[in-house]
Amino acid sequence: MTSHPGGTEHTLNLLAIAVDAGLSPGGRILDLGAGAGETVLLLRELGFAAEGIDLAPRSLAVREGSLLCTEYSDGSFDAVISQCAFFVSGNVPGALCESFRLLKPGGLLLLSDVCFKPLRPQAEAAGFRVLWEEDMTPVWKEYYIEAIWRGDPLCCEFSQKKCAYSALVCRKDETNGPV
Ligand SMILES: C[S@@+](CC[C@H](N)C(=O)[O-])C[C@H]1O[C@@H](n2cnc3c(N)ncnc32)[C@H](O)[C@@H]1O
Repeated sequence: MTSHPGGTEHTLNLLAIAVDAGLSPGGRILDLGAGAGETVLLLRELGFAAEGIDLAPRSLAVREGSLLCTEYSDGSFDAVISQCAFFVSGNVPGALCESFRLLKPGGLLLLSDVCFKPLRPQAEAAGFRVLWEEDMTPVWKEYYIEAIWRGDPLCCEFSQKKCAYSALVCRKDETNGPV
């Protein structure tokens, strides 16, 4: 069990799509809501210059900070990754807007998250062009059932409403901007 649906296999899948879209090993990547830093460490093993921030870091690989308002300058990263963290931040549009700001022109956002409103139009409204999308709701359901079994308190938030789980890879196009 990992901290996001699909685990490492899903992270590697997002990365493979990003590499196909032009992300090069050695590129600078920020994990927003990095938790225990599993993805940061994986990215480093694969040769990326990876960093992570989280409100409550659970490893030395992750720095403390809010994904809604980071200390990094505009255009600092080749890619931003976030798995299962934008929704729990309580401000998905704000998280998308900060991701857009952090990316270099042409940079990539690798995102997977729970959503009560479809993620794709929200990403487009933030200025992104969506290159790839997957409905991961079946994977999320399995993950959710396991989480209930473990007594994870987060599950109470989702139990009364109909939600989905989406994965996107999006590009910050130089011609685009937030609408
Ligand atoms: C379900 S965990 C996912 C962790 C990690 N992305 C993973 O897949 O293993 C959600 C994480 O988002 C973090 N988080 C929530 N709101 C945040 C915020 N505003 N800024 C940074 N991290 C936040 C939580 O502290 C938690 O570690």
